[in-house]
Parts: sequence; C-alpha cells; structure tokens
Amino acid sequence: MAFADLADGQMRRVEGLGEHGVVVCRVGGQLFAVDDNCTHRDARLSEGRLRHHTLTCPLHGAQFDVRTGEAKGPPAPCPVTTWTITES
Ligand code: FES
Repeated sequence: MAFADLADGQMRRVEGLGEHGVVVCRVGGQLFAVDDNCTHRDARLSEGRLRHHTLTCPLHGAQFDVRTGEAKGPPAPCPVTTWTITES
C-alpha cells in the first residue's frame, strides 16, 4: 500500500487491518499509524482532527499522540495501539 500521495498533515483510513482498521497520518514527512478507534468509546479517529502529532477524537475530544499512541488527556482511559509503517 502506497502513501506517497498523502500530504503532510493529512490522514487516511485503511480498512482490513486490526479489529477496527487503522488510520495513517503523515506529520513532518513521517508516517504514523494507530488503530482507527478511540479508546474511550467506538469512534473513528480518522474522522477527527490532526494537528502536528496530536489526533483528536471527533466525539468527545480525547487526544492521542500518533507517535506513541499516548492518551494526552481525558476522557480516553488508555493509549491507542500504534502500528509500524514502512514506505517502499
Ligand atoms: S469516543 Fe473518543 S473521546 Fe469519547
């Protein structure tokens, strides 16, 4: 799967990976990927907002660091799973 057309600051949902799909984000020229499911409730993070390395859930505003999956504040109770992406 190629992401060469994914511009900086953009993200894309990828179906068929993991239980909920994955959202791939390009930030600072690098690709990051996390589960496309908020750890608070069932919401697609790919429908949220990406600002720098912070992905904000569209439902209640939980924020995650796409580099580490770290939940940066409530209401997310735990980190989101990260995936390793390689560009060929
Ligand atoms: S579902 Fe994401 S913050 Fe509630």
